Amino acid sequence: PVEDRVEDLLGRMTLPEKVGQLTQIDVLRLMGQDEWDRGPLNPTWMEKILADQHVGSLLSSGGAAPVPNTPETWVQVTNDLQRYAIEHSRLKIPILYGIDAVHGHNSVLNATMFPHNLGLGATFDPELTRRIGEVTARALRATGITWNFAPDADMGRDPRWGRFYETWGEDPLLAGEMVAASVRGQQGDALGPNSVATTLKHFTGYGAPIGGKDRADARISNAELREIHLPSFQAGLTAGAATVMVNSGSVNGVPAHASAPLLTQILRKELGFGGVTISDWEDIKRLQTVHKYVPTYREAVHQAINAGVDVSMVPHDAEGFTGAVLDLVQAGEISEARVNEAAGHVLALKFRLGLFEKPYADPAGATPAVKAGQDLALRAARESITLLATNGRTLPLGGSAKNVLVVGERARDPRSQLGGWTIGWQGLPASEDTRAVTVLDGMKQVVPRGSRLSYSSAVPSKPSADVIVVTVGEPPHAEGEADNPKLALPEGDLALLRDAVATGKPVVAVLLAARPLILPEEVRSRLAALVMAYLPGSEGGRAVADVLYGNTNPSGRLPFTWPKTLAQVPGSYDAPSAAGAPLYPFGHGLSYTTFAYSGLTFADGRITVKVSNTGKVPGAHTVLAFARATGATTPPKLAAFARTVLQPGETRTVTLTVPAGRFPAGAEVQVGNQRVTGGS
Ligand code: IFM
Repeated sequence: PVEDRVEDLLGRMTLPEKVGQLTQIDVLRLMGQDEWDRGPLNPTWMEKILADQHVGSLLSSGGAAPVPNTPETWVQVTNDLQRYAIEHSRLKIPILYGIDAVHGHNSVLNATMFPHNLGLGATFDPELTRRIGEVTARALRATGITWNFAPDADMGRDPRWGRFYETWGEDPLLAGEMVAASVRGQQGDALGPNSVATTLKHFTGYGAPIGGKDRADARISNAELREIHLPSFQAGLTAGAATVMVNSGSVNGVPAHASAPLLTQILRKELGFGGVTISDWEDIKRLQTVHKYVPTYREAVHQAINAGVDVSMVPHDAEGFTGAVLDLVQAGEISEARVNEAAGHVLALKFRLGLFEKPYADPAGATPAVKAGQDLALRAARESITLLATNGRTLPLGGSAKNVLVVGERARDPRSQLGGWTIGWQGLPASEDTRAVTVLDGMKQVVPRGSRLSYSSAVPSKPSADVIVVTVGEPPHAEGEADNPKLALPEGDLALLRDAVATGKPVVAVLLAARPLILPEEVRSRLAALVMAYLPGSEGGRAVADVLYGNTNPSGRLPFTWPKTLAQVPGSYDAPSAAGAPLYPFGHGLSYTTFAYSGLTFADGRITVKVSNTGKVPGAHTVLAFARATGATTPPKLAAFARTVLQPGETRTVTLTVPAGRFPAGAEVQVGNQRVTGGS
């Protein structure tokens, strides 16, 4: 068993060798001449970091790709590093290689990129998420990467927060199901040579910083922690997640990286986690430099390791970190048992991944694996797209609207649809190009015979088209630079919409956005239709086109509450804002057909409801069942959900299972306009 192998290996390792396992260095430190150079591997740095410091894992953070950025060079670089590490370690210990593959293998040019999590949340389709995880893991492993810093298990409780799109939305049940599905997809039934270690991040409370400001303190009561922020982590751990990354921010004034109550009491003891905990980027040092929680770097290391952090992601200077740990062990401030425990977690992971037996990737498998999954990515984007508003006439295009004018740069630039964490940390750099089907490409692919399609960057003053499709949204962005305190559309995009509605033509607005945006009432009320496409990935443009032309009947439902005004933020459906009804509630999403419910029942933990397609076209529909304990006055919460596909005129009985013991004394259940009181 793995435990015996770990014990045996630890027994033969020196203290510095063990401490090396607690250290993770960015691969750019081993490339080129200078610290953050991309380029060929540099033997001097390799010797210092891998041989002398015994560093146990590397990562490619956003943008740290080999040159040229092809699947084959990834394999070459990861294999070269692995070979060097094994050959230069006395006990032939392989390294782990980590990456942020948060929407597919998103660091490799021309890879298939899936919608970001927020869009996947709108699909309410965990099986789809599981399959995406599977495809992503194969692509990673095929390029020698064994550790994925995903899935995100943060809760999207404040859309102003820059990392909102990395979440699955605001609901803990939905997030938990999606996180668990992603873990099962990436890790399979058990870790092995075809899977990768997943990371639940960022433990915990990261999704609720005050004011939606990335890494601001989060004020979270014990009840809120348990009801809102822990369930998604718990679900991911039950699914077997191998690692957990720590929240960079602080919770109730205490930085998570120094919080033994969070990292040891709750994570290890209550949730029973036995895997690797890793810091976020340079976050041990930031206990001193940013949080000012401790006076020295040595004390930061002391607090973090004793609180429960196993691996230091980018201590920047490996020597400084390992030196501090060794010094603290010598002084008796960190026990050798704690070092053994942390190194043991890392070594166990290496054994479980099969790295001692199969340390290298096969270059022949890399390109096919990285490009695989286009159909799945297209399906995911189609399922995610959410029709927010429609006049019932303009969409689908092609009927009375035969002559279509597409406007807006975002319709032909893949950057917005790919979002952050795409090749570059903050999104696809201007200097790079990656394969993606843009909205304009997609529309060209599906425009029916007899219809016309034209494109213009700006809105002509007297367009001859029957309808104008305006693609607007946010530029790509990632942590630290992505907060949007006003939930505002960029000025230029808003101007485009204003110009379009001013023409008097029907205007369909397509949003490539990372969050709900607040559009001025005088613009929004004049739109013929409003389509939320989220950040739909490399096949996203085709999916948008399919929805616009009616090849796909939209079925996405909002995984968050869309506010009408800023005063309503934050305000999730289960903790409504005092400032009134939102613009679109959680679960909102229209279709080209209509659905009706009847015959709702709730007994023995099972909800059943009949769903009928009462319209003229086939459509998929997600049934959302909300429930609260009988007599409770708090808002009903999502208790179960299921997707179904119905032909026109068809009725199906949908059965949903409510977790055992959830409502022991009975509950009021609500599905659409149907209500029933029952029991589990
Ligand atoms: O995994 C990420 C994390 O989500 C944010 N900071 C950097 C890490 C590694 O790239």
